[in-house]
Amino acid sequence: MSGTLAFDIYGTLIDTNGVLAALGELDAVGNRAVEFSRVWREKQLEYTFRRGLMQNYADFAVCTRQALDYLCAVYRVELTDADKDRLLEVYRTLPAFDDAGEGLELLSTAGFRIHAFSNGSAKAVETLLQTAGIREYFLDVVSVEDLRSFKPNPAVYAHFLRRVGATGADAWLISGNPFDVIGAISAGMKGAWVKRSPDAVFDPWGIEPTVTVRSLTELAGRLA
Ligand code: 2OP
Repeated sequence: MSGTLAFDIYGTLIDTNGVLAALGELDAVGNRAVEFSRVWREKQLEYTFRRGLMQNYADFAVCTRQALDYLCAVYRVELTDADKDRLLEVYRTLPAFDDAGEGLELLSTAGFRIHAFSNGSAKAVETLLQTAGIREYFLDVVSVEDLRSFKPNPAVYAHFLRRVGATGADAWLISGNPFDVIGAISAGMKGAWVKRSPDAVFDPWGIEPTVTVRSLTELAGRLA
């Protein structure tokens, strides 16, 4: 068994909703934590898309911070700098999804070469994987920061393939983010969509995931 896996991080292995508890503890956010977390993530990604198009790169953590500032302004939520720093600290140590360890173990045993591939900086991703206790499964961490751009710029997928010495025909992008799966397939890779919620919708662009799974534990069997 062989095959190269580019594992997306945020929203695939690492749960961005891990900020919910910290958000809920803030009086100013209160029962809007779920909406706040969703919109924070959407705005963070929008900033990466825009910065990629504008060729005005800033670290993913800057996009995260600026999206938080935007949210506070839009929702008229007054957070102190200490509150924001605390939320961003939680973001730096978000938990893995429950199925991450078992899924990675199955893939590793099946002989796949597993790499992390993220919009996050290599340092931030290393910290997340170490904190979540799943670093051991990865050969290395490839970050878009090497190119100072973001997914889904086709150049970042090509960069991944060059870095790990793989061809698109042999390499899978594994992601819970439809835009990432479409980006990888459009750049010549195979794409597995981790459809974490039954209500999740894949963008109707006429580009379908090569494989769709409901959890990471299904992956090893489906990619074989
Ligand atoms: C990641 O690159 C897309 O945020 C996602 O980790």
